[in-house]
Amino acid sequence: MSEPMRAPKGTFDTLPPDSAQFLAVRDTLTAPMRRAGYGYVETPVFEDTAVFARGVGESTDVVSKEMYTFTDRGGRSLTLRPELTAGLMRAFIEHRLYSGALPVKVWTVGSAFRYERPQAGRYRHFTQVDCEALGVDDPALDAEMVALAAQGFRDLGLADFELLLTSLGDATCRPQYRELLVGFLGGLDLDEDTRRRAEINPLRVLDDKRPEVQARLDGAPLMVDHLSDSTKAHYDAVRQHLTDLGVPWTEAPRLVRGLDYYTKTTFEFVHSGLGAQSAIGGGGRYDGLSAALGGPDVSGIGYAVGVDRTLLAVQAEGLDVVASAGVQAFVVPLGAEAKRLAVRLVGQLRSAGISADTVYGDRGLKGAMKAADRSGASHAVVLGDRDLADGVAQLRDLRTHEQVAVPLGELFERVRATVSA
Ligand code: HAM
Repeated sequence: MSEPMRAPKGTFDTLPPDSAQFLAVRDTLTAPMRRAGYGYVETPVFEDTAVFARGVGESTDVVSKEMYTFTDRGGRSLTLRPELTAGLMRAFIEHRLYSGALPVKVWTVGSAFRYERPQAGRYRHFTQVDCEALGVDDPALDAEMVALAAQGFRDLGLADFELLLTSLGDATCRPQYRELLVGFLGGLDLDEDTRRRAEINPLRVLDDKRPEVQARLDGAPLMVDHLSDSTKAHYDAVRQHLTDLGVPWTEAPRLVRGLDYYTKTTFEFVHSGLGAQSAIGGGGRYDGLSAALGGPDVSGIGYAVGVDRTLLAVQAEGLDVVASAGVQAFVVPLGAEAKRLAVRLVGQLRSAGISADTVYGDRGLKGAMKAADRSGASHAVVLGDRDLADGVAQLRDLRTHEQVAVPLGELFERVRATVSA
């Protein structure tokens, strides 16, 4: 026999019963978007490599080091999406959604792929919930985005998270600020690697986690102090709306995100229970993304939340997010005659919207009752041959172990009424 196969490095399987938590987290995070009128979109999990190279930015780690890029049999360069925003923007342009009513408000959820060094909370395949409002530059939309993300976390019951907020300026002020920062960094005694990083993207040096580098960065010019009048007014309006919406934030003037498309409002949600990979979500406005992908010169804003990391945060806070795992009713047939009735009853219950299950294979009474207990059902229906001959079945409360005989003619209605009560 050959070696059993394993999931690729940096990936994992999500299996029952833990998968119920994953679904609960995913669905709770998307509920605020649906309530706010965002429409669901699906795009392919792979795109032409240029969508990410141009959209996310060649100088980012994501594009230069972490993409799963391959040539297909037709000789095209394709890439498994490392994030969902660029693909959504590509669809917005391709389908000319910009010529309809704006903003176009969309959400999606799905797999993303990054060739990163795996560790707790950092995987090579992970799931993101993503929300975007395209085509309109209005600070109220920035605030709406941030509030929707915060609402999702709050609905899960999370408390130990913080919203980091800043403005990265735009074409009216970032180039001048960049010059200023390059000048400042040029006067510092930095190692070769950091110097090279400063040349590619000087803003990213500000985010260097090493204390010796941070110490030298004291007094570095900050974007927020050099915003143009229009971007400052935009940022002030965002903060005003956030105050009105009751969303607290922390000013994070050194926040640098891993993707190059951000302008103006930029944010990240961090959770204190996760160690090094503390970002559970992030996003911001992007003025240049549409044009970079061949679309019109319009702005957009959005965010993505990592479902897997949020699940870790939920577990770190010991929250119970699964309302009712498993089925409501479990049917236990004992004997061939009972089997047919069991299959029929389960079908009837499911059609009526009640979650129900039964045993398959020959499990015997003990095994079947164990399966009933494990199923999470509040009630079991035990169908024994002798009972059936008498025209009854036993309806058993699995929590109290009380049991009543129910005439077969009333069985479906009684089970339905009992488990729905
Ligand atoms: P991002 O910050 O790169 O933003 O990713 C968003 C979230 O995805 C992170 O906060 C984290 O929770 C999760 N995540 C990222 N990488 C990994 C990984 N290797 N393993 C597990 N979870 C991960 C974006 O992707 C932007 N597209 C967000 C956005 C939408 N900006 C505007 N619109």
